[in-house]
Amino acid sequence: MKQRKSGFSMFRISFLSVAFLAFLGLTAGNAFALTNDDCLGCHGDVVDETVFKSTVHGGNGCVSCHKEAAAAKDEHTLPLTPVNCGGCHEKVAAVHAKSAHGKAIKGGDQQAPRCYDCHSKHAIFRPTDKRSTTYPLNIPATCGRCHQEGSPMTTSHHLNKKNITDNYTMSIHGKALYREGLIVTATCSSCHTNHDVQKASVPSSSVNRNNIIATCTKCHAGIGEKFMKSVHSPLVTKTDKKLPVCNDCHSDHTISQVDKKDFRLIIARQCGNCHGHYSETYLETYHGRASMLKGGEKLAKCSDCHGAHDIMPANSPESRINKANIVKTCSKCHAKANDSFATYLPHATHSKADKARYPYLFYTFWAMTGLLIGTFAFFGLHTLLWLPRSFKERFKASKEKK
Ligand code: HEC
Ligand code: HEC
Ligand code: HEC
Ligand code: HEC
Ligand code: HEC
Ligand code: HEC
Ligand code: HEC
Ligand code: HEC
Ligand code: HEC
Ligand code: HEC
Ligand code: HEC
Repeated sequence: MKQRKSGFSMFRISFLSVAFLAFLGLTAGNAFALTNDDCLGCHGDVVDETVFKSTVHGGNGCVSCHKEAAAAKDEHTLPLTPVNCGGCHEKVAAVHAKSAHGKAIKGGDQQAPRCYDCHSKHAIFRPTDKRSTTYPLNIPATCGRCHQEGSPMTTSHHLNKKNITDNYTMSIHGKALYREGLIVTATCSSCHTNHDVQKASVPSSSVNRNNIIATCTKCHAGIGEKFMKSVHSPLVTKTDKKLPVCNDCHSDHTISQVDKKDFRLIIARQCGNCHGHYSETYLETYHGRASMLKGGEKLAKCSDCHGAHDIMPANSPESRINKANIVKTCSKCHAKANDSFATYLPHATHSKADKARYPYLFYTFWAMTGLLIGTFAFFGLHTLLWLPRSFKERFKASKEKK
């Protein structure tokens, strides 16, 4: 809002100064400055007059942007200084100058976007106007002109992420945008901002680890509330270990619908990036093993037992696997679950690493294994000793027969 106000007042200032220049021209050379019609007389092939008139700057003179041309009487000098949009939009221009794009321009990168690369030159509309290059439905294509794999920009630059635009199109946000025309979904600029576009490694970047939760929860507010009360929230757990943020579990440009196979089958791996031991033991037990088979997405995943955004340690009364809640948790899928069913340990293995956690399983396993080995050893020895004896007996018997 402030921007608009200052834009407007700057507009008035520049309008007045143009008028003043025109007045100077009139008194000095006794000739009028060029009108839009004059400009269009020579440039009608480049600038579509009817389109230009309907744009946000349609009421402006051509010379409000092409200032030097204002001094000309019939022909203007060449070359003209590039248009400075920041003359009227100073706040936006200051932000853009400090962005990854602005810094690249400063560094002489010819492929970094200037204002008109995203807004066009003479077809600038408000972002809410369907004709605008910055209307939500058009933003991915606007950014994609450069960030689409195979563009001159991607071939000459080596950015960390590949296939961004294609991946986005296939993500839940992209599908919602293109298939349903859902313009409140996330487009490139919802996550990267309009003008303060920064590398993820820059601390102030909207997609930096420390800011991701805030960026996603602008829209997913309810999830943010839950998440901030869970064990993964920095407000709840003080630790030096890396706590997960939204894109650790959901990715960034390939976010999929959570009840679809693609997502369900990768949950164990996402959690396993940090809870390696639990994901290994999960994969060794029934739910994990059967998850690998056809239709495996129906089996219990980490989040079916622990929750997703409200995960708590087992000893917390709010945990879904706490004694007080576990029967309810299993009974979502096992209708007949009761206390004794819920004593099944989804992570229990008899490995040495689990000895402290599940001593009962560890010792039972070794007792049973010991018994088995003992039994085989005893009967093995018995058979071995018996063998020569049995040959001897047979030999004796056949001799006696003869
Ligand atoms: C909102 C600002 C703005 C207004 C108003 C504007 N232009 Fe431009 N124009 C630009 C920008 C930005 C460029 C790109 C080159 C540059 O930066 O100087 C450009 C470039 C041009 C070019 C060079 C060819 C090209 O496409 O790069 C011509 C010719 C031109 N404008 C004519 C006009 C005419 C005629 C009018 C009035 C009907 C007009 N402009 C009004 C911003 C504007
Ligand atoms: C008598 C014809 C004529 C008139 C009138 C005219 N121009 Fe030009 N303009 C040219 C020519 C010729 C060029 C150079 C070739 C080209 O880019 O088309 C040019 C180039 C430009 C460029 C590109 C600048 C550059 O450095 O490459 C802009 C912007 C422009 N004119 C704006 C305007 C504006 C704004 C007006 C009205 C105030 C105007 N022109 C009036 C003939 C004209
Ligand atoms: C002479 C001053 C001036 C120049 C130069 C100028 N603009 Fe504007 N711009 C305005 C004014 C005034 C408005 C209308 C503000 C309003 O009513 O909200 C505006 C509106 C806009 C809007 C729509 C804003 C909104 O909130 O809907 C965009 C986008 C925009 N300008 C982009 C540009 C770009 C890009 C350039 C350079 C190519 C540029 N402007 C150059 C004065 C200018
Ligand atoms: C990388 C693309 C990109 C560049 C470069 C860019 N813009 Fe924008 N701009 C956008 C997008 C996207 C939006 C609006 C999206 C929305 O609000 O939904 C926007 C919105 C605006 C608006 C209206 C709302 C606001 O945020 O104030 C103005 C004015 C504007 N831009 C001016 C400029 C000016 C001036 C420059 C150059 C200094 C510039 N833009 C450079 C993408 C860009
Ligand atoms: C005219 C081409 C162009 C357009 C349009 C464009 N970009 Fe860029 N973008 C670049 C270039 C070039 C860089 C590399 C700057 C550098 O070397 O760090 C870049 C860098 C970035 C980065 C930082 C990544 C990095 O490694 O530097 C992000 C994030 C980004 N762009 C997002 C966007 C978004 C979002 C849009 C649309 C609103 C957009 N870009 C539109 C050319 C473009
Ligand atoms: C739902 C949010 C979201 C949307 C929508 C989104 N991005 Fe991203 N983007 C991210 C996140 C998060 C990262 C950083 C991931 C990381 O830390 O590696 C990222 C990274 C990037 C990078 C690399 C930045 C770097 O520093 O390496 C570029 C370039 C980029 N996005 C461009 C785009 C473009 C272009 C679009 C639209 C087609 C888009 N993004 C849509 C969230 C999003
Ligand atoms: C530890 C991993 C993890 C983190 C971190 C995480 N999610 Fe999720 N998210 C999931 C899982 C797993 C599901 C599927 C839930 C289910 O099956 O009930 C999910 C579901 C969702 C859904 C679908 C709606 C719903 O509630 O089921 C949205 C939207 C979502 N997450 C957004 C976010 C946002 C925004 C953040 C960051 C604040 C975030 N997630 C952080 C794992 C995570
Ligand atoms: C501009 C708002 C906006 C932002 C920012 C945003 N989202 Fe979304 N997101 C949506 C909307 C709207 C949907 C619903 C799309 C649909 O279901 O068709 C959605 C859907 C999702 C889903 C699928 C939900 C399901 O029911 O399966 C996940 C997961 C998700 N977003 C995660 C994220 C993450 C992670 C981030 C940040 C990196 C993020 N979103 C940023 C608006 C947003
Ligand atoms: C980016 C790393 C990371 C990811 C991904 C992650 N977690 Fe965590 N998780 C942690 C950290 C750090 C803690 C805090 C306790 C600690 O220091 O180990 C924690 C705590 C927990 C706890 C409480 C256990 C305890 O010892 O207090 C459970 C249960 C848990 N996570 C389950 C999950 C599940 C299920 C997923 C996947 C949906 C997941 N986590 C994804 C890092 C992660
Ligand atoms: C069928 C339900 C179920 C599934 C699926 C499951 N867990 Fe567990 N998880 C439990 C139960 C019950 C406990 C507590 C008993 C135990 O430690 O064996 C537990 C304990 C944990 C703990 C320690 C919690 C604490 O507070 O000490 C972590 C961390 C954990 N699981 C992570 C995971 C991860 C990661 C996955 C997926 C790879 C997963 N779980 C899958 C039920 C499950
Ligand atoms: C998301 C659904 C889901 C949840 C939640 C779930 N399971 Fe399962 N579980 C399955 C499916 C599907 C099977 C395989 C179907 C079958 O053979 O009955 C299975 C099989 C099993 C089996 C082996 C086969 C059998 O029926 O005896 C055990 C034991 C088991 N689950 C225990 C648990 C326990 C304990 C919990 C709660 C901590 C739990 N499950 C939570 C879906 C789930």
